[in-house]
This record gives sequence, C-alpha cells and structure tokens, in this order.
Amino acid sequence: MQSSYLKLQVNCSLQKPSISHNFDHFKSRLSSAFKQLSLRISVPKTIKNSFVKLLDVFVDQMFEFVDQPLLPSQRNFAPVDALREAVLVTNIDGEIPEDFPEGVYIRNGPNPLFGGLKSTKSMFGSSNHIWVEGEGMLHALYFKKETDGSWNVVYMNRHVESETFKQEKQRNRSSFLPAIEGDSLAILSAYLLNLLRFGKINKYISNTNIFEHAGKFYSVAENHMPQEIDIFTLETLGNWDVNGAWNRPFTSHPKKASGTGELVIMGVDATKPFVEIGVISADGDKLVHKVDLKLSRCSLCHEIGITQRYNVFLDYPLSIDLTRLAFGGPLIKYEHEGYAKIGIMPRYGDADSVKWFDVEPNCTFHIINCFEDGNEV
Ligand SMILES: [Fe+2]
Repeated sequence: MQSSYLKLQVNCSLQKPSISHNFDHFKSRLSSAFKQLSLRISVPKTIKNSFVKLLDVFVDQMFEFVDQPLLPSQRNFAPVDALREAVLVTNIDGEIPEDFPEGVYIRNGPNPLFGGLKSTKSMFGSSNHIWVEGEGMLHALYFKKETDGSWNVVYMNRHVESETFKQEKQRNRSSFLPAIEGDSLAILSAYLLNLLRFGKINKYISNTNIFEHAGKFYSVAENHMPQEIDIFTLETLGNWDVNGAWNRPFTSHPKKASGTGELVIMGVDATKPFVEIGVISADGDKLVHKVDLKLSRCSLCHEIGITQRYNVFLDYPLSIDLTRLAFGGPLIKYEHEGYAKIGIMPRYGDADSVKWFDVEPNCTFHIINCFEDGNEV
C-alpha cells in the first residue's frame, strides 16, 4: 500500500464534490493513472530493475538537486552530523539533582541526509522539500551514576533506517524528488518518477515521535507504520506491523490506556478506510480491536485522545487544492466553510457507536488532555 503523505493529499481532494466537472475528470484520470502505474511496477524483477535504472539516468540528466538556503532564523533546522561513537558530555550547566534517575532520554526529529533540505531544478520547474521532510534521527542522552556519586552522561545519535532511508543511503545521494511544494509540473513529475522508481511517492521519514509499548521502543511519523528501535545502540530493528495486523499509517501519538495497559492507535489514509482506530494488547502481540470509522472524506486527524472508557478524535476540514498543480498556490487548503466534528467512541465501539459533536471549523493538531467527569467527556 502506498501510504505516503502526498498520496493522502491527492486522494483527499478526490472526495470533494464541489469542484467543476472537468476538474473532477482530470482528477479521476490522475488517480487511475497512479493506480495503473502501481500495477505496472509488478513486472519481472530484471525488467523492472532495467526500467528503474533507465529512469535513474533520466532523473540524473534532467533534475539538479540544490541545497536550500538556510536563513539565520532556520538554523535550528540545520542537520547535525551523525556520530560514529557515543560522546561523553562534559559541558553541563548547573547540577544534576541527587535523586535524578539513571536512564535514557531519547527523542527524534528531522535531520535531512546529504547536507540539508534540497530543491530540484528541471525543465518542469522547481520543487522543494518542506521542513518536516528530513530523515528521522534519534538523539539519546544516557545518564549513569558512578559509585562515587558523580554522573556519567553520554550522547549518541543515529538515523532511523527506514526502507526509504536505506534506498537513498544505498544510492549515496538525494534520490526522492521533492513532491510537496513547488511548481505544478515539477510536483507532478516528482509524483510519477518517485512512484516508478521507488514504489512510493514520498519518503518514510520516521521523525515525529518515539513511544514505548510492552518494553519495546518505536520511532514513528504518521505516514507509515513505526520502526522498532534499540534504545541502547539506536539501531533500527524493523517495522512494527503488530504481527501483520496493522499494515497502514500509524498515528504519531498513540495512547496507553490506564488500567488495561493497551495501546490505542489510529491510522489516517488517503483512500478508504480513511480513518481506522485500533487497540493493541498490553503485551504488544495482538491487535485486539480494529474499526473503520467509515468517514466519507479523508481527514487529517493527527492525534487521538483517550479517557478511561472512550476514544476521542477529530474530524476537521482540510482539503488539497489540486488546481494548484495547474495554476500554482498552496497545495494544502484549510476549509473555513467545511464542517468539523469531535467524535467520541467507546474503547471497543464501532462506527455506529460514535457520538459526533459539531464544532466550528478549525484546524487542531494536538489534544492537551481528555477526561471523564461523571457522564461527560
Ligand atoms: Fe504531533
């Protein structure tokens, strides 16, 4: 399944009926073209490899990758070097409290390969990586207390080695064409060429969150399933598909249910089912519940909330304006006129058991908290 962010965007707009007939026709042609291209990839390996090599030559000849300039205010987004070995941290301001626990502090974030975010220039125009598109890098601080009471603090970093990270690393150069921002034709050609060469439109960046479940640790970005990581070596151990039960996008912010220890997750995709909710067993081995919310549109729901008994999610209006591909302008379009809803569903409910509450159209990314107060959520 191609679950890339950009595919999500294209298909989102396929659901909107308000655009003119001609444009609907264009979109349906575009959609079927992508489907056909996906099918065509299933050809014998040797032919496919030759075809991909041919396309690589075409990309190398036609597209120039250039570094994006970094403004002083954007220095925080500049990539850091990947370390070969852990380093001892000696320049610590202040003091580590006496009762501070030993352990690991770990986080991830975008850290683009090959020197930074890129733009491409070609006869089709230019397209650019946006700031979230850097490959996920893990950063870990290890706190260990010595017998004399002093602290040993060590820092280590390492990229999350997703499938697409390995593909680019193997080629040793930027290879995925930026496909989110830029000139219309450049984006269209990036869609097609990425899909034909890599079988996906965008990279699996795994740069948004790290979470723990059943004693294992995972790095995730919501356009793909999580990658299990070893927090001591920062090695990537592989994709977590819950023993084959969850092969689709996975929220960056899953929630651990108090009491049962289950993990409540969701996945937002471009095609039906647009939003699915899942409950993973406390031991992480089984998907004990999976439900399609049966939404009629794609909704960019970024975070799920939970209470003792309920799951809480947002369905807010966001569409992708494909006219931009033809005429320019922002690709992602927030719909002020659309509807927005908050849904509340019993933990193991189904689409029919969701109670929907209309709210003013808004764009909400994160939930601060959810709780029950008597009969209210
Ligand atoms: Fe987030």
